[in-house]
Amino acid sequence: MNQNYTRYTFSNSVKKAQEKFGSRAAYQKVELQGADQFILTAREISFINGRDGFYMATVGENGWPYVQFRGGAKGFIRVLNHETLGIADFRGNMQYITTGNINATGKAALILLDYPTRRRLKIWTETEVLDPARHVNLLEKLTVEGYDAVIERLFVFHIKAFDWNCPQHITPRYTLEEIKTDLLPNNLDIIKDCRPQHLKSDSHPNNSNEPK
Ligand SMILES: Cc1cc2nc3c(=O)[nH]c(=O)nc-3n(C[C@H](O)[C@H](O)[C@H](O)COP(=O)(O)O)c2cc1C
Repeated sequence: MNQNYTRYTFSNSVKKAQEKFGSRAAYQKVELQGADQFILTAREISFINGRDGFYMATVGENGWPYVQFRGGAKGFIRVLNHETLGIADFRGNMQYITTGNINATGKAALILLDYPTRRRLKIWTETEVLDPARHVNLLEKLTVEGYDAVIERLFVFHIKAFDWNCPQHITPRYTLEEIKTDLLPNNLDIIKDCRPQHLKSDSHPNNSNEPK
């Protein structure tokens, strides 16, 4: 946990809740510890490079929060430098809620999850929405070759704080690629056919060519 994180999130009402439920003293110590931390280390960078999606929260001018999913090919979230991330934003339902919210407030909070290892990283950002036609070099950096999507704009996330969460309550889930490349080859017993011989497909009555 770092200082920016506590400054952004520990509002008066949050502190009151911590007081009421007994965690205020401990978190006050956290607030007073250390310097601001928002420079990505090798740990965060390798985690971000492995993601194929994340959730992004923005806030509308009327104060309503909004959460939307962004996905793409693994690695589509580019680490531009130790304090900056970028993605190409694809055409969707053309409501442009995220874009409008960022244009109004300049902020987005991200949560990135790795389900197999049950890790999650929260990131607070000041965010820019950029026109790809005017930022061709950046567009090149944020484009994933061969991925089928229309790029409408670029999001650049200037990291202001991040915080790792504990793995509690995350159910491990696997993509097809993870199952094929990691899970199955190392756990062949998962696909071992456990049925008695007479129920196996080649001897099953439904698979017989004989007339029924
Ligand atoms: C044809 C089409 C229809 C969509 N309809 C919805 C929808 O009804 N609700 C939704 O949450 N996302 C929908 N999506 C996905 C969103 O458009 C997409 O996640 C988009 O990036 C949301 O952008 P925003 O958060 O800036 O509004 C749709 C996408 C497409 C291509």
